[in-house]
Amino acid sequence: MTPVIAFDIYGTLIDTHGVVALLEKFIGSDATKFSEKWREKQLEYSFRRGLMSNYKAFSTCTEASLEYTCKAMQVSLTDDQKQMLLDKYRNLPCFDDVIDVLKSLTRKYRLVAFSNGDSRALDRLLNNVGIDRYFELIISAEEAKTFKPDPVLYHHLLRRVESRPGNAYLVSSNPFDIIGARSVSINAVWVKRHDSMIFDPWEYEPTSIIRTLRELPARLP
Ligand code: LAC
Repeated sequence: MTPVIAFDIYGTLIDTHGVVALLEKFIGSDATKFSEKWREKQLEYSFRRGLMSNYKAFSTCTEASLEYTCKAMQVSLTDDQKQMLLDKYRNLPCFDDVIDVLKSLTRKYRLVAFSNGDSRALDRLLNNVGIDRYFELIISAEEAKTFKPDPVLYHHLLRRVESRPGNAYLVSSNPFDIIGARSVSINAVWVKRHDSMIFDPWEYEPTSIIRTLRELPARLP
């Protein structure tokens, strides 16, 4: 059976800090801090909605967390500026190691995109950077109306690709995602893009750790 490689999107293939340059124009030197806080709150909102069984699109979490971050950092942005930031979020760049690696892997594996993002946002994002063509499927959390790391979603992935866990690999730079996949016995490769990234000290470990996607082919069967 051809192994299935499922790629997380935001933070793994797509660079969520792509908004920093625009933020810098609006708020100056706090841009990186703002972007990090915005991302953290966005994830928190998705986790909380999952726990509450109160699904709303990931883009709703992105919008609400932008509002929250403005308040928390006492930054006042105009409605136009907020719209420009959200628009940028719909058009984020991919990391520079993505295209070549996806291209080389399609010869040997079944590739799918697997993300908490909503279907429409994912289609647009992946199409914009020209990588949608490499995926057999784009699997959105929207299909199961919950968010990673809810195990329901990883089982949904396995059902959609008709794979057993041992023949599936998740590739993600998000430790919560790696732990979610390992908890249902899916192999999981953690892309530790920066030295400062910390893996949560739980009872799960990644199947392997890489620094850039270029190391991925050597870690696959
Ligand atoms: C994704 C985010 C959560 O699922 O990284 O794409």
